[in-house]
Amino acid sequence: MRIRAAVLEEFGAPLVVREVDLAEPRAGEVLVRLVACGVCHTDLYTASGADPSGYAPTVLGHEGAGVVERVGDGVTSIAPGDHVVTLFSPQCRECVHCRSDRTNLCLAIREQQNQGYLPDGTTRLADGGEPIRHFMGTSTFAEYTVMPEIALAKVNPEAPLAGAALFACGLSTGIGAAINTAKVEAGSTCVVFGAGMVGLGAVIGCRLQGAERIVCVDLSEDRLALATNHGATETMVGGPDTVERIVESTGGFGADYTFEATGNVQVMRQAVEAARMGWGLCTVAGVAGRGETLDIVPRFLITGRRVAGSSFGGVKGRDGVPKLVDRWLAGEIDADSFISHRLTLDDVNRGFELMEAQDGIRSVIEFS
Ligand SMILES: NC(=O)c1ccc[n+]([C@@H]2O[C@H](COP(=O)([O-])OP(=O)(O)OC[C@H]3O[C@@H](n4cnc5c(N)ncnc54)[C@H](O)[C@@H]3O)[C@@H](O)[C@H]2O)c1
Ligand SMILES: [Zn+2]
Ligand SMILES: [Zn+2]
Repeated sequence: MRIRAAVLEEFGAPLVVREVDLAEPRAGEVLVRLVACGVCHTDLYTASGADPSGYAPTVLGHEGAGVVERVGDGVTSIAPGDHVVTLFSPQCRECVHCRSDRTNLCLAIREQQNQGYLPDGTTRLADGGEPIRHFMGTSTFAEYTVMPEIALAKVNPEAPLAGAALFACGLSTGIGAAINTAKVEAGSTCVVFGAGMVGLGAVIGCRLQGAERIVCVDLSEDRLALATNHGATETMVGGPDTVERIVESTGGFGADYTFEATGNVQVMRQAVEAARMGWGLCTVAGVAGRGETLDIVPRFLITGRRVAGSSFGGVKGRDGVPKLVDRWLAGEIDADSFISHRLTLDDVNRGFELMEAQDGIRSVIEFS
């Protein structure tokens, strides 16, 4: 079929919205009609050419939500009409990582996905016979996409799909970092660095876990105000003395849990140093620039602090995303407030501009 999609043709140039070919789903694959898709930093990072593992041409987009149109042979867990959230982090339920409760990093299709192919090593996207690669296994800046069954989370059909799309990436990443990676304990003191989608998600996750104090640190007063709406009990404008101020306000010890959601390695270091002596856990969710390293004075570790990394918030997508969506529907999570702009697919480059201007938290593309 011919579909409209936003194609990355050339790094550093605007995406080109045009028609491309999409083939029928093969065995184990699903054809999804997208209803909504968030515009995320990772899309822009690849479009800009900064991502060393990036490739073109490809159809970008990975924060999708939509409705299943057709399924390929052997697909059993999903049927036409189901509402789904796309997962750049799949869950096969069979690999050694899926069978462990210690990680969500499914191994089933990693290699092919990283190179832009579906699990059988080919693409369903093409134009004039030339293959177009799939981005993050999702390619959701498009009217339709074909994805592996193991990379789709079936969610409550009552959930509005524009809000559900947020759970495809940033929101689940932040909430999950607090619930799954850090396993925040009730009554604890938490500090979240960064109040973008991921940081605000971490604030929500800390609140859901029953944290007593949730301090959010950002450079923007507007964003700190959002943090208060989502459950931060205190806010702080970040600076060189942030660690000092946190240590001082915690009786000289530091916080039980810290979260880094800025991608800045200097802030990561602050998050490690602001964690409590004895048992403080620093969870790093931000993605640093190419070649950057995190500096930690080993004394901080010897004296009991720990550092954990978190990808997609440790969420095993097919199991975890539907549960988070249900908590949103139950009123525990305010997802709607994150949608700052609603755009059409043709305006996808406008979504990048808004993001670069830090105008709002999330632009969401809606497909008619
Ligand atoms: N681990 C994962 O699976 C995963 C998934 C999605 C995004 N990410 C990463 O998480 C990070 C955050 O993503 P986002 O969408 O929330 O980004 P964002 O840009 O919307 O938010 C980052 C926030 O950090 C703040 N900030 C910048 N410098 C700061 C400083 N020195 N001190 C305090 N705050 C500072 C900014 O003002 C901004 O509000 C990015 O690095 C992104 O790539 C990771
Ligand atoms: Zn994303
Ligand atoms: Zn797996």
